[in-house]
Amino acid sequence: MNFLDKLKQFRDYEEQLKWEGTFADYLELVKKNPMIAQSAHSRVYQMIISAGVSEQNGHKHYHFFDDKIFGLDEAIERLIEEYFHPAARRLDVKKRILLLMGPVSGGKSTIVTMLKRGLEKYSWTDEGAIYAIKDCPMHEDPLHLIPPHLREDFFQETGIRIEGNLSPLNVMRLEKEYGGQIEDVPVERIFLSEDKRVGIGTFSPSDPKSQDIADLTGSIDFSTIAEYGSESDPRAYRFDGELNKANRGLMEFQEMLKCDEKFLWHLLSLTQEGNFKAGRFALISADELIVAHTNETEYRAFISNKKNEALHSRMIVMPVPYNLKVSEEEKIYEKLISESDVANVHIAPHALRTAAVFSILTRLKESKSRGIDLIKKMRLYDGEIVEGYNEADIKELQNEFPDEGMGGIDPRYVINRISSAIIKKGVPSINALDILRSIKEGLAQHPSISDEDRSRYTEYIALARREYDELAKSEVQKAFVYSFEESAKTLMDNYLDNVEAYCNSNKIFDPITGDEVDPDEKLMRSIEEQIGISENAKKSFREEILIRISAYARKGKRFNYKSHERLKEAIQKKLFADLKDVVKITTSSKTPDEAQLKRVNEVIARLVDEYGYNTTSANELLRYVGSLLNR
Ligand SMILES: Nc1ncnc2c1ncn2[C@@H]1O[C@H](COP(=O)(O)OP(=O)(O)OP(=O)(O)O)[C@@H](O)[C@H]1O
Ligand SMILES: [Mg+2]
Repeated sequence: MNFLDKLKQFRDYEEQLKWEGTFADYLELVKKNPMIAQSAHSRVYQMIISAGVSEQNGHKHYHFFDDKIFGLDEAIERLIEEYFHPAARRLDVKKRILLLMGPVSGGKSTIVTMLKRGLEKYSWTDEGAIYAIKDCPMHEDPLHLIPPHLREDFFQETGIRIEGNLSPLNVMRLEKEYGGQIEDVPVERIFLSEDKRVGIGTFSPSDPKSQDIADLTGSIDFSTIAEYGSESDPRAYRFDGELNKANRGLMEFQEMLKCDEKFLWHLLSLTQEGNFKAGRFALISADELIVAHTNETEYRAFISNKKNEALHSRMIVMPVPYNLKVSEEEKIYEKLISESDVANVHIAPHALRTAAVFSILTRLKESKSRGIDLIKKMRLYDGEIVEGYNEADIKELQNEFPDEGMGGIDPRYVINRISSAIIKKGVPSINALDILRSIKEGLAQHPSISDEDRSRYTEYIALARREYDELAKSEVQKAFVYSFEESAKTLMDNYLDNVEAYCNSNKIFDPITGDEVDPDEKLMRSIEEQIGISENAKKSFREEILIRISAYARKGKRFNYKSHERLKEAIQKKLFADLKDVVKITTSSKTPDEAQLKRVNEVIARLVDEYGYNTTSANELLRYVGSLLNR
């Protein structure tokens, strides 16, 4: 289908969804589908739920935020369980302003933007449909037309509670244009849109001296006063402030705590009573979710001022810390890069991971009670198995510092350094070392990092590099073996045959000579020594392996060399040890002979085909590993 057809198709679709009728018609719709009369808070909650929820280890994962927000599952779960869900059920938190509090570039704005764009889309769906009094600048809820004394009856009949009073403008229109006949008031379906200022608003404080409250609550339209005769005629008022326009949806209050106090007081009544004051009118009811965000320093300053107590008690503060998982941090970088103009640059394997290791280290706090080093803690948090620690330990570590993740390096800094490295290098291919170097250079110029942090961060760069060195070495060594997995399996099978014979005091069959021979002690020890198993400990290690194998067999699972963490390590190390000299000589030879050259080319081809490198990054990797092995 070509693009113009698509445009037309979309226009037809829009036409199809439009609906207009009288209030009487609307009541029929509501009876059939009460969901269309839900509150703004409830609509936000339903929207999130409708994208799907799954459960893992007792924690809920909300798919609404997939693809855009990574590693904030716990913060999001809390946000939904402590704010959106109860607010949707009309509990008291609905009357509070939601304040997202977290470090810079931690995803606060992204979360709010997702909610806004999500609501826009949701209003196009059947479940998310919204109706309003036609041509009302505040898209007022048609049910407000029902007079208070009939609302209890309405509730008995439909189960719908009506909150809020008819706005001054619609009170007047009802009188003047429809002679008080509620049934005849026209109603239309509306589609939320920030661009069209329907149901989505953003307020951003400007200079406190020039900022006008009209930005929030609208203002007198002086050109029409003459026509209507008075400032208190609602027709002479423009209900076009952000609070008006965001009615039925969501208003984002950017940098709320930077705002002048008098603005904040408006919010007090809005949130508490669900209405606000504009011009010389009765209070105006508003049905909208107000989300604000701020950073920790500003928040601390705000609550330390006694004058802000009333406002503070009307807020629900939700922390949005940095992500603390390396693998999720990698996804953040991938996302940011794919959205940037360096999306076509080749990024060598492990480069983003290495940067992520650095970032996470800067965010973690050294545990005092558990004596676990930072790298291990980082692994545990990322869901890796770390010997000697379990789920309960993770909980305990997390509880040790409730504000962990509220500081450290932000993702935007890392992305900036990656871009800068790409530009500086001039080749559209970048590796882990380029990124670490660039991060290091950037630290020197970073204005808001203390000297103490700078030296700590420099250490973390070294740690991240050490992590990378291990990955790089093992990748090259693997690539040197024609089929690494195959070789590992053969070596393991051989080892297990011998272990079995040893434990059962049997002989082993030699397929070449056809003889029965004793288990090959030398082979077994050469593997076990790789992980420091002493002569005294070998027996119990071998028995433990056999027990593991039979446990696997009982459950019908196949035992392979990865089924036992330490055995896997031993097998890999043994293979690498055998290879070390070959790799060392091949990768570092200045004048390689023909055989070496052939080998290098094969390895590079394998790195490109199977490991995700390009020729530039594969060559760089080989040179680097060569230098590491020669140290
Ligand atoms: N946990 C995360 N998952 C996905 N992306 C993230 C995450 N944290 C930050 N980002 C990305 O980093 C960038 C900065 O995030 P964002 O602007 O949402 O942060 P913020 O908390 O509003 O920061 P500020 O306090 O500076 O306004 C965005 O591009 C965002 O997508
Ligand atoms: Mg922001």
